[in-house]
Amino acid sequence: MELDGKFAVVTGGGAGIGLATTAALRVAGANVLIVGRSPERLDAARGTDTGITSFVADLAEERDRDRLVAHLAENRPLDVVVNNAGTMTDVDLHDRDVMWKAKHELALDLWAPMHLTIALLPILLSRREAAVVNVSTGLIYAPFGRTPGYAAAKAGVHAFTQALRHQTRHDALQVLEVLPPTVDTELASGYGGSKIKPEAVGTAGAKALTKGTAELRLGRVKFLYPMSRLAPNAIFSMMNKVAGKVGVTK
Ligand SMILES: NC(=O)c1ccc[n+]([C@@H]2O[C@H](COP(=O)([O-])OP(=O)(O)OC[C@H]3O[C@@H](n4cnc5c(N)ncnc54)[C@H](OP(=O)(O)O)[C@@H]3O)[C@@H](O)[C@H]2O)c1
Repeated sequence: MELDGKFAVVTGGGAGIGLATTAALRVAGANVLIVGRSPERLDAARGTDTGITSFVADLAEERDRDRLVAHLAENRPLDVVVNNAGTMTDVDLHDRDVMWKAKHELALDLWAPMHLTIALLPILLSRREAAVVNVSTGLIYAPFGRTPGYAAAKAGVHAFTQALRHQTRHDALQVLEVLPPTVDTELASGYGGSKIKPEAVGTAGAKALTKGTAELRLGRVKFLYPMSRLAPNAIFSMMNKVAGKVGVTK
């Protein structure tokens, strides 16, 4: 895909991987609409770059997602959707408030990407070339037991992305899944292991779009993938031993 002159929406584009992806898309010549809850964060991310616009929305909320879709339908034609916004929450399944936490995480991490993709698909399919980028995680291969909502949501994103790629295989739509390892962002701030920079994810993601990559496994995820196929139980235990020793962002 040629990114120069394209128009992309990046959810969670005001921080972390979303901000780095926005920067990489800008370098490649695309204009970007960034979406998030905090107007201040979006303003700071936009800075003085007239190629970046912003839209305030809580994507866990259905009516905010509908507002975003309506805004995009009225705006200049959309070429790229980057479903990136997400949270990773510790959820103890013994707790009484578990239902709300899990529901919220599924709404943001799974249903929002599905809702936006389904609603925006007619616009994307009307373009000469278009793309959907879904940011999942290397943890789809060995989920952390302490974050069951996140684990379920990201497994769902992976499966949905495969189904979307299959159903649109005869269309001019590229479907890219980005599977990062631990990245140095707010989401992983409580996590003590080694981390890659968000810029590395953003740059690799933009490059993968131009190359037509289907699944972009980064850093340790390149090894986690085959290892989890060869020895799934051992890898699950190892990952959860590591997760048990370090904090994960609440
Ligand atoms: N960091 C990692 O180690 C890692 C590893 C693998 C995959 N990932 C995935 O990468 C994606 C981005 O994560 P990150 O590490 O960049 O996180 P981050 O630095 O915490 O940024 C999250 C972004 O999502 C936005 N956001 C959060 N809740 C939202 C909501 N309800 N509605 C709209 N926007 C919302 C935030 O903006 P506001 O707060 O202003 O809303 C922020 O821009 C996530 O899907 C995550 O699962 C991260």
